[in-house]
Amino acid sequence: MKALNISGWVLFILLSIGIGLYPWGYLISEVLAENGLLSSKLNAILESTIWNIQFYIHIFLGSVAMLTGWSQFIKKWRNKNIGFHRILGKIYIIACILSGLAGFYIGYFAEGGIVAQTGFMALAVVWLYTTSKAYFTIRKKNVDAHRKWMIRSYALTWAAVTLRLWLPLFQFGLGMEFIPAYVIIAWLCWVPNLVWAEWKIKRLSLS
Ligand code: HEM
Repeated sequence: MKALNISGWVLFILLSIGIGLYPWGYLISEVLAENGLLSSKLNAILESTIWNIQFYIHIFLGSVAMLTGWSQFIKKWRNKNIGFHRILGKIYIIACILSGLAGFYIGYFAEGGIVAQTGFMALAVVWLYTTSKAYFTIRKKNVDAHRKWMIRSYALTWAAVTLRLWLPLFQFGLGMEFIPAYVIIAWLCWVPNLVWAEWKIKRLSLS
């Protein structure tokens, strides 16, 4: 049971860091820009300055949220470094809010039509809501409620991880085309994460 727990944590940390670093691939190499999501976008979108600004705000601050979030859940580390926890927590919240607002905007232009667009835009709204709640509850010194909202918020940040796990599973495992898979995954990448968060909160007796 302990070994299972440790491997769960190792996987959680490795995926958080791995996917958290992924957006920087857009800066380091042309491969992502030329073959990734951008290669499937219409020229009109790619030429839009506003879309480009929002896209890069979204991916780089999404990366900051992903990279700062995971360590906050390690109790021993958090209790030992409460000052650092506060600083990282503030960075996490600002990153989520700015990335979430940009994510809402680019969600409107997402591939896959209305179902995928509403999936991403709904994710952005719930991400902004849960993260703001996490901030306001701790301002009121309500630690249990803060913990609860942070679990929800980070489970949603993890949509970036689950999306990238579901996509190859649907495309290579089930042989689906990109667009039909993407339409389903725009919802599948976050709704089960939120259900998992509710289960976790119940198990920790925080509800
Ligand atoms: C949780 C709220 C999030 C929402 C609502 C969201 C929304 C979106 C949308 C709409 C797109 C563009 C899709 C398209 O045009 O078809 C996108 C792409 C992207 N997002 Fe997010 N996202 C979220 C979280 C994150 C996080 C935390 C990261 C950090 C790793 C991230 C990194 C990226 C990257 C790198 C892309 C470019 C696509 C790719 O290269 O795979 N997103 N996101």
